[in-house]
Amino acid sequence: MINMVNLKAGKIYLRPIELKDVNSNYLSWLHDREVMQGIATSGYTLENLKVYVEERLNKQDVAFFAICSKDTNEHIGNIKIDFHDKQANVSELGLLIGNKNYWGKGVGYEACRLAMDYGFNTMGIRKLYLAVYENNLNAKKLYEKLGFKLEGTLRKHVMADGHLYHKYLMGIFKEEFK
Ligand SMILES: CC(C)(COP(=O)(O)OP(=O)(O)OC[C@H]1O[C@@H](n2cnc3c(N)ncnc32)[C@H](O)[C@@H]1OP(=O)(O)O)[C@@H](O)C(=O)NCCC(=O)NCCS
Repeated sequence: MINMVNLKAGKIYLRPIELKDVNSNYLSWLHDREVMQGIATSGYTLENLKVYVEERLNKQDVAFFAICSKDTNEHIGNIKIDFHDKQANVSELGLLIGNKNYWGKGVGYEACRLAMDYGFNTMGIRKLYLAVYENNLNAKKLYEKLGFKLEGTLRKHVMADGHLYHKYLMGIFKEEFK
């Protein structure tokens, strides 16, 4: 992983994720139906989660942060800049606040602002993109608030809880990040 510093905002800070963060706390988020309802990934165990994190720690073009509470230092979620396309200079932003006690308090917004600033201004990325599912309204609103624009819709493309939902593709250029 590229060299990363700690980044601070109001309620939270970001620090580089470490292999020791792959523990029952992190794993419990991935087995929580409510947390995962807008995310396709499933079936994680401590072993394959370790492999997943380790793969990213070994990549020079990935920034993978643990989101931590400033008050308690508790690891409450993750945010990462991943899947870098070197030629086009675009990367994907991924966000997961696993500790639901921290939902709706501006943590996602703060974490994204910090990571986006890092991606655009330290890593020099030209554009960030992400995918968000139709059933994840809170996430879509968050990304709109951050300035992401809807770039396309894969219609009835993902299955969650027995229903088919659209998959929205959203993106933001460096110049659009204020
Ligand atoms: C979706 C998620 C990232 C939102 O994070 P959060 O910290 O709760 O969001 P914030 O409190 O920063 O809210 C920012 C904006 O998002 C929207 N939003 C977030 N939670 C909301 C809620 N419960 N109800 C309505 N709007 C909500 C609002 O527009 C809000 O802005 P506002 O407070 O000015 O109205 C978080 O719930 C999460 O990690 N969920 C599980 C994993 C996931 O779905 N990740 C995204 C995959 S694309």
